[in-house]
Amino acid sequence: MPVITTIEDLRQLAQRRVPRMFYDYADSGSWTESTYRANESDFQAIKLRQRVAVNMENRSTATKMVGVDVRMPVAIAPTGLTGMQHADGEILAAKAAEQFGIPFTLSTMSICSIEDIAAHTKAPFWFQLYVMRDRDFIERLIDRAKAANCGALVLTLDLQIIGQRHKDLKNGLSAPPKLTIGNILNMMTKPRWCLGMLGTQRRQFGNIVGHVKGVTDMGNLSAWTSQQFDPRLNWGDVEWIKKRWGGKLILKGIQDVEDARLAVDSGADALIVSNHGGRQLDGAESSIRAVPAIVDAVGSGIEVHMDGGIRSGQDVLKAWALGARGTYIGRAFLYGLGAMGEAGVSKALEIIRNELDLTMAFCGRTQMHQVDRSILLPGTFPTA
Ligand code: GLV
Repeated sequence: MPVITTIEDLRQLAQRRVPRMFYDYADSGSWTESTYRANESDFQAIKLRQRVAVNMENRSTATKMVGVDVRMPVAIAPTGLTGMQHADGEILAAKAAEQFGIPFTLSTMSICSIEDIAAHTKAPFWFQLYVMRDRDFIERLIDRAKAANCGALVLTLDLQIIGQRHKDLKNGLSAPPKLTIGNILNMMTKPRWCLGMLGTQRRQFGNIVGHVKGVTDMGNLSAWTSQQFDPRLNWGDVEWIKKRWGGKLILKGIQDVEDARLAVDSGADALIVSNHGGRQLDGAESSIRAVPAIVDAVGSGIEVHMDGGIRSGQDVLKAWALGARGTYIGRAFLYGLGAMGEAGVSKALEIIRNELDLTMAFCGRTQMHQVDRSILLPGTFPTA
């Protein structure tokens, strides 16, 4: 067993342990994957200012996201099919997040259901909503999230239609996987994963199968998505969902200043600057490049969060310095989950927190509220 000290170590282990179809689903972007790559490389291009002889005792990375206490400004992002990276994946990740002290966000497209997560955790988790054509189903989903005492609704606005993801199309992505010769041969090289899957009943979309009329399995995922997701989604729906939900609302998938202003008008509590991890519009700018203009445009009208490309605590600090008051990790926790289950997610969170804490100290700060653009080297970071 290699010594794990970075998210990249977890990624390599996950790649060995998770069947190719599901590993590829997580670790890929759409089309040429240029936006997916830019999400990471634009973070790396930002340079930090080292400060010395500053008292670095009594440091804390704790803060709040939409009023919720967090041990660091990071939440677990909603990711589809998480229970296919590892058996019962969403339950394990939610437990790791609760233990660590950050929010876990459950995807509509999860394997474990809203009720599964509620049964295995005490801390309120967040629920991410996709809007589908079947509005009765959406109303019932919102009601189920309320009944589970979810702390916030994360409404995704950038997936009415799905970006072309070549690896998923080539791999014939489905959940549960179809038992083709290729899939069986590949799964035979992943004995831990198979053992885990044999030991759980949770192998299909827990929030959907059995809840939407006529859906018993979801065969080809991209075909299913294009049939069920509502391409007509608009700001009127945001208003309707906000009213129906009645709790904290976070709008995910904003990349443009004009949309950010509309998000402020909607009265939502936060927006997430996001290009869906480079999985939707390839050729869109990286999330971190989009942050400063949006932060400047919305002022104090709404809390700005971001996701996309975060692979270390340094990235969390850079995003905070540019004005993001919260970040989300998707792949970084999925690699941990695929590598080592719950322990791997905990490991990913510890790695990120440790990197955040040390980097903050090297920049001469001891608390998150002291961190702003002045920790960044001028000329190396994006501006409005
Ligand atoms: C969303 O569920 C995705 O696959 O990006």
